[in-house]
Amino acid sequence: MSHPKPFVIAIDGPSASGKGVTSRRLAAMLGLLTVDTGAMYRTLAWHCLRMKVDVNDDKKVVALCRKWKTSLVVAEGHVRLLVDGYYPAQEIRTSEASAAVAHVAQIRVVRDWMKAKQRECIQFGSLVMEGRDIGSNIFPETDYKFFLDASPEVRKLRREREGVKEDVHARDKRDSSRAHSPLMPSLGALIVDNSHHTVQETCDLMLQEINKRRKANGLKPLKAAA
Ligand code: DC
Repeated sequence: MSHPKPFVIAIDGPSASGKGVTSRRLAAMLGLLTVDTGAMYRTLAWHCLRMKVDVNDDKKVVALCRKWKTSLVVAEGHVRLLVDGYYPAQEIRTSEASAAVAHVAQIRVVRDWMKAKQRECIQFGSLVMEGRDIGSNIFPETDYKFFLDASPEVRKLRREREGVKEDVHARDKRDSSRAHSPLMPSLGALIVDNSHHTVQETCDLMLQEINKRRKANGLKPLKAAA
């Protein structure tokens, strides 16, 4: 029996647009793995901070990125990037790491390195991958592309509720205006404004769209676990 070809559900969008929680719920419903690509960029930013590398010095960041010791592993339904065998779950969420990450994320060599790593994730199976350029640049060949969005007020409120004080607007501006793979909806992506939707409603809508696209390609629908 031949195994079905692994596929990717690409979820892009700005900070606090609900990508993380939506990806995890959708992946759980469909029995797929999640990949948080923002965590990969954050891990590099954190690694720079602890190695005392100035994140504004592109050359030094590139040199570090070329030699850091990383591996991809699957843990609890997520594909994770480890550095020196360690996943810095807490450390990458600090305000220092959040401030540093947009700098490392705009470096072309870093983005190329991340692209290769993110594409490697498919070795583990079908994925729900969230980020900023998944549909446009990492897996442009996938049929399942979504761009999540919410109003600036709702996004700010969500971050505050998480106890994170962050200038979401400033980071979005940097992510959208950078030269390499700026944040924008990719061709063929369904734009979903979830300002007034629950996570479950958003996932149901996405699954409906995925199955519409599968039907158009003569593929069996995906079924949510009961
Ligand atoms: O989703 P997040 O807030 O954890 O992302 C952290 C940063 O990384 C954010 O400033 C944008 C950047 N990023 C990116 O440029 N491309 C991705 N695929 C994911 C994140």
